[in-house]
Formats: sequence, C-alpha cells, structure tokens
Amino acid sequence: NTPLTILGIESSCDDTAAALVRLDGGAAAVLASVVHGQTMLHADFGGVVPEIAARAHAEKLDIAVREALARARLTLAGVDAVAVTAGPGLIGGVLSGVMCAKGIAAGAGLPLIGVNHLAGHALTPRLTDAVAFPYLVLLVSGGHCQFLIVRGPEDFARLGGTIDDAPGEAFDKTARLLGLPQPGGPSVEREAATGDTSRLRFPRPLLDRPGCDMSFSGLKTALLRARDQIVAEKFGLTRQDRADLCAGFQAAVCDVLAEKTRRALSLYMAEAPAAPLIAVAGGVAANGPIRAALTDVAAEAGARFLAPPLELCTDNAAMIAYAGAELYAQGHRDDMTLAARPRWPL
Ligand code: KG4
Ligand code: ZN
Repeated sequence: NTPLTILGIESSCDDTAAALVRLDGGAAAVLASVVHGQTMLHADFGGVVPEIAARAHAEKLDIAVREALARARLTLAGVDAVAVTAGPGLIGGVLSGVMCAKGIAAGAGLPLIGVNHLAGHALTPRLTDAVAFPYLVLLVSGGHCQFLIVRGPEDFARLGGTIDDAPGEAFDKTARLLGLPQPGGPSVEREAATGDTSRLRFPRPLLDRPGCDMSFSGLKTALLRARDQIVAEKFGLTRQDRADLCAGFQAAVCDVLAEKTRRALSLYMAEAPAAPLIAVAGGVAANGPIRAALTDVAAEAGARFLAPPLELCTDNAAMIAYAGAELYAQGHRDDMTLAARPRWPL
C-alpha cells in the first residue's frame, strides 16, 4: 500500500479546477485545490453559455494545473496518475479537460483515469471524513438532485431524484424573477431570513406520490404567479413582499427535500448499515434551513448527518482526484481512447 498522489482535473460546468490529493492507506489529504469560477463571464447571459465556458476552460486549465502543482510544491515527477472528469457535463468543457489530461498523461508518461463527475461528488465524504460504505448521499446543486446509496467506488444505487429542475436552478430562477443577484441561492436565503413563511403557500410537488422523485419546476411558476398577483394588487413589490416570496419558496424546497430524504433514509436503513450516515454534496448544501431540516430528519432515523466543507461540496477537482485514486487503487486505468461523455448516469 504505497502512498498515491493523484492530479485531478475538472471542467464539466463553469468551474476550471485542478487539485492534488494524496491517498496513504485509508487516509486522504488534499495537497492543493485550485478553482477558477466563470461567474463573471456568464453574468450578462442569465446562465452558463457552453461556448464561452469551453473556451475559458481551454485557456485556464494549464494555469490551474500549474498553480495546483506549485501550491503542493510538486512537479509531475511526484504524481502517480492523472484523473479527469470525463462526464456528465457540457461537452465542450469536458472535452477541454479530457484533452488537457491526455496531454499531461502522454507527456509525463502517467496513467490516465476518467472519472464520473457525480461519482466525485458521491465519494467526497470518504475524502473528508473517511466514511465507510454503505452511506447515503443527497446531491443537490444547480444541475443535479438525486439520492444515492454509495456501496463502493463504482457501486451506486440511485433511489430517485428530480424529474425536472434541480433545486439550485430553482433558487437561481427565483432570484432572477425577483431581481436579486446571481447565484440565486445565497440571495434568496438572505431575503428569506426576514420573510414570513406562512404568508404565501407554495406547492410541495410529488409528496403525494410514493418514492424519492422530486419536481421543482412548478415552484417557479407558482412563484411567478404569486409575484404578479402582488404586483397587480399593489403596483409593485415591497422589500417585505420579496422576503415573504423567498421565505415561502425556500420553505417549500425544504419540505420536499426533508420528506424525500426521510423516504430515502428508510430505504437505506433497510440495508442495516453498521454506521448509518447521510451526507450532502452540491452548492445547495450551503443553505442553512435546508441543512437544519436534513439534520433533524437524519436524527429521527438514527443516522449521522455529514456536510463536508463547502469548498468540497461545490464543484472542485479534489473530489475528482480522490475518486480517481479509489479507481486507481482498484486497478482501473484508461488510455488515449478515453471519451468525453455529455451524459453518463451512475
Ligand atoms: O455545486 P454547485 O456549486 O454547482 C453546480 O451546480 O454544479 O451549485 C451551485 C448552485 C447554484 O444554483 C446556487 O444558487 C446554489 O448552488 N446555492 C444555494 C446556496 N448557495 C449556493 N442554494 C440555496 N442556498 C444557498 N445558500
Ligand atoms: Zn457538480
């Protein structure tokens, strides 16, 4: 069990990231993690523009890799393998990352490992807290929302997820409809703190159906309707109206996530895990009330609740390096035929 040092590369959405992770026996350490966001580049467009993202990744990847190596005080000679997000994601960005990783692997004579971005998120609890299999993960970000039982580095059981928008996307759209700054999650959470959750009642979709699937696209329609009704009655929105709209919206998201988490936990607990644990991943995990609701639901079920540090919950390359290390340790290797996959379900 010699220690492994893995270079990770991530570029599947709007973050250009490179990281170095060392795996020594069961202990993992992040030696360096560099993330260059692109929020400013997309700010005028109301969303991530794939062409702009791909070009920015192509320009920034080398710099991010160099920066990560410098911060870790390493050269490629001290690296054992290169792990890269090979999907799912925006194809241009994933291609930029895969080409960069192939170049480094070929140039330095290193093994190449293609990593599923979702597996990176799902394995993060092992990177930060050496969590044992099987555990439950709720992945909630701007692009994803699903429950996974993680049984091994390549063994995931998907219990359900959103059938339309991801919650982060719903937060972002809500912010846009109310004229609040992007990313919407933090702005909506801030406004909701002074809002009245009981004034406006938003729907809790799919709670009447069995299973762990969720739906969030109807929420924004409901919010739009509520906003327009207030505007029509009062010829505008006051600060308090906006706060109440945010509070009502956030309460609905919280309720849906809490109830579906309750169901996912009961399916997971039926496997009789020795040390029951549910972890969150994704940017929405930053939300205070959502965290609080999940903490309660976990306690009810007798499971530990884990929220890794936020910089490892949002998109980063350390999780890709770590997932790559687990795959490498299992003997997994890719070669120059590694393909970028825009769709790649776990
Ligand atoms: O994981 P992430 O950084 O990127 C991906 O989507 O992959 O997640 C970003 C999402 C955005 O939609 C953002 O609005 C949301 O996470 N978010 C939040 C909060 N902070 C970030 N949503 C709710 N409450 C927050 N405090
Ligand atoms: Zn992600």
